[in-house]
Amino acid sequence: MGLRVGICGTGSFAQCFIPLIKAHPLVSKVVLCDLVPEKLQKASEEYGIPHTCPSLDKLVQMDVDAVALFTQNDRHAPQAVQALKAGKHVYSAVPSAITMAELTDLVRTVESTGMIYMIGETSYYYPCAIYCRDRFRKGDFGYAIYGEGEYFHDYSHGMEQVARSRFGDQWMRHVTMPPFFYPTHSVSMITGVTGAYAVKVCGMGVKHQVQPGEIDFTKVPDRIYPNDFWNEIMLCQMSDGSTARFIEARRIGYCHRPGSVGMSLYGSEGSFEQQIAPPDQAKGQWTAHHCVWSGKSPGSIQDVTDLLDCRSPDPKEAQAIAVAAKTGLGPEAFTSMSKVHPVQRLPREFVGLRNGHEGSHQFLVHDFITACVDRIHPPNNVWQAARYLAPGLIAHESAMRGGVLMDVPDFGAGSGV
Ligand SMILES: NC(=O)c1ccc[n+]([C@@H]2O[C@H](COP(=O)([O-])OP(=O)(O)OC[C@H]3O[C@@H](n4cnc5c(N)ncnc54)[C@H](O)[C@@H]3O)[C@@H](O)[C@H]2O)c1
Repeated sequence: MGLRVGICGTGSFAQCFIPLIKAHPLVSKVVLCDLVPEKLQKASEEYGIPHTCPSLDKLVQMDVDAVALFTQNDRHAPQAVQALKAGKHVYSAVPSAITMAELTDLVRTVESTGMIYMIGETSYYYPCAIYCRDRFRKGDFGYAIYGEGEYFHDYSHGMEQVARSRFGDQWMRHVTMPPFFYPTHSVSMITGVTGAYAVKVCGMGVKHQVQPGEIDFTKVPDRIYPNDFWNEIMLCQMSDGSTARFIEARRIGYCHRPGSVGMSLYGSEGSFEQQIAPPDQAKGQWTAHHCVWSGKSPGSIQDVTDLLDCRSPDPKEAQAIAVAAKTGLGPEAFTSMSKVHPVQRLPREFVGLRNGHEGSHQFLVHDFITACVDRIHPPNNVWQAARYLAPGLIAHESAMRGGVLMDVPDFGAGSGV
């Protein structure tokens, strides 16, 4: 019998994942679950999934082997713990938790139940991360010296609409959630590449200079998060002796799509640098980044921008040919993949299906389903999830205390790395 998966939350992000989970050849049944009956019915009809359930409380009592959480980001840890304790494997959209206490409870619950937990960290399968991970493992970087990861998402780029849709008439109370309660897109860019994690952190924050006509959310009387920082920055001492700087910015003049997540990594032998750049319209290029590899000599410098370009294959394009060669399929193969994506790992059932976040969605779904079936912890397991999240939670505390250097608790690597 295949894996039976309950998808909890049929809101906006889940739309990208429902078809993939349903199409995976190792999945035999999908149950959709949402508190809002209209959303549930719409998704059920749209994706042809007859099995539905009105709440997570009910879902964990059903005959499903795994639960995939696409609920609001302040609910994930308690919901994951509830599902794990009910004997379900758990996939969670980021972030895993919003406090260290929640995170600790989550890790301990995975350890005590022996169930699979996976964080759906999209940055892990961004082409730049795959490219750097491969070259780091081959030794091309030497040892790591300094890394940078950033996630720039300005408030004007849909954040208010998202808050309104996620939290209804309570939306204003949620808006000042500290950016470092959601640090995983930037931190994973380095930790997911080198395997090193932050052991000490110094955090600082930048307040927003409220402009005429704007709402000053720091004045919302019953706001949930007493935080005034819209942009947060941390400097880390990493476990391998290197250093890293991460930024989560929510008030920043910067193009959001597709340039919002970026990284650079400098090693003793080689380095990778990524910068925003205008897409080359003539080449039909989608990427908004310029990427360069450099060793120590002028001849080693390489423009690797094309390697990282994600798009739907076009028969005339070299990128499509490279993807096709890996899969053995024609160039109509997988959607939105770069040349560096290891598409040969993916089930053929994903061909032609929607992908997202620079090719990452299909890999995340495949990792989770195979991890549950094989009962082997996936790369983005709970211990790794903690290493993506804890530095941000501690850095926010550091920022609130004027930037004091603080230790970052670590839960080890578990049995999955
Ligand atoms: N790049 C990324 O990794 C990325 C991108 C976008 C969103 N996300 C994450 O995805 C998550 C979902 O975002 P969204 O925009 O789809 O939110 P959303 O508000 O549109 O959807 C959440 C849904 O969960 C449902 N829900 C909440 N609690 C439930 C319960 N107990 N039982 C059943 N249903 C329940 C809600 O009714 C709602 O329909 C967020 O945590 C967000 O951080 C991640």
